[in-house]
Amino acid sequence: MRVERRVLRIHEQIFEDLNDYLKKGKNMSVACLISMILYAVQFGGIEETLGRLFTAMVVQNCMDAPSKLVRAVIALIAMDNDGGIVFERTRKMVKDGLKELPSLYAYKEFAPTPSNVWIDKANFNIKVRDTYEDGKRCLGNYFYETLFTKPIYVDTENAYEVLPHGSKIALVTFCDADMKTVLLWRIHKHTRKEVENMKKLMIELSKVRKFAAFGREEFFDPILLADFDIGGTSLKSLAMSHGIEMSKTETMSNWTAEELRDDQIQYAAFDAVVLHLLHQRVDPISSEEVARRRMMKKKQRRRRRNRGMFF
Ligand SMILES: *[C@@H]1O[C@H](CO)[C@@H](O)[C@H](O)[C@H]1NC(C)=O
Repeated sequence: MRVERRVLRIHEQIFEDLNDYLKKGKNMSVACLISMILYAVQFGGIEETLGRLFTAMVVQNCMDAPSKLVRAVIALIAMDNDGGIVFERTRKMVKDGLKELPSLYAYKEFAPTPSNVWIDKANFNIKVRDTYEDGKRCLGNYFYETLFTKPIYVDTENAYEVLPHGSKIALVTFCDADMKTVLLWRIHKHTRKEVENMKKLMIELSKVRKFAAFGREEFFDPILLADFDIGGTSLKSLAMSHGIEMSKTETMSNWTAEELRDDQIQYAAFDAVVLHLLHQRVDPISSEEVARRRMMKKKQRRRRRNRGMFF
């Protein structure tokens, strides 16, 4: 099989990214890995030597997957993407196999709530919205009432490349622990103007409700976020130290996919809900303190720069 240099480069890059990720001992879901293979063959057939490496990676990381699916993936890796019927049929088998994979996640926080349960004991309702109008309508509900006691917990998920609206952010998560809703606002198809308007809306919202996150989330600038990141540890380890288990198998998955898999939805939602669970045990660094520390750092940098100028 002849493979164009450009295509080979892309495949090598994909392999390296996956390999780096897996080498760090991080988990990746079968669906996530196989989606990447589907993505790779879009550009053309995979060169043989590299193909063997991909195959080994699939064999090693998809031990729990149905063998029929794994066989189809391996066949696909060895094929030339000539657009022929055999290639297309194999690709379809893999795609269909992906849809049939059982869910990895079954967070009890997202189980349906029986109708006789009060809202404070209710589970979270996840809403996925992917147009600006729908996102805006949904976030609009976060304004009402004044009895809210909890901040809005936020998080973001990234695409692989910069999107038309000018950043890599594909999805913004808002968890309202008072209303027990999680909004997954998908912005990967938004225009620059729509994201600007979304930011204006968030700024309005930040006047009536506080926001909290783990670590710096520049997407929300200039809104100040309370921060659960006390330094030196990941969110996963911090959660673990408080007895909350969270899985990180979808970090690298395709957040611009036409439709998100159920696992991706639960994963993204839990990244914000976990902050609510943490908040029942620890307090975040307040947004005022975050602002003060940021200002101090800026001053220090300026002082260092000035010293550099004089000596
Ligand atoms: C992600 O999904 C989109 C939409 O289906 C597709 O165009 C893109 O190639 C996918 N990217 C990856 C890395 O799978």
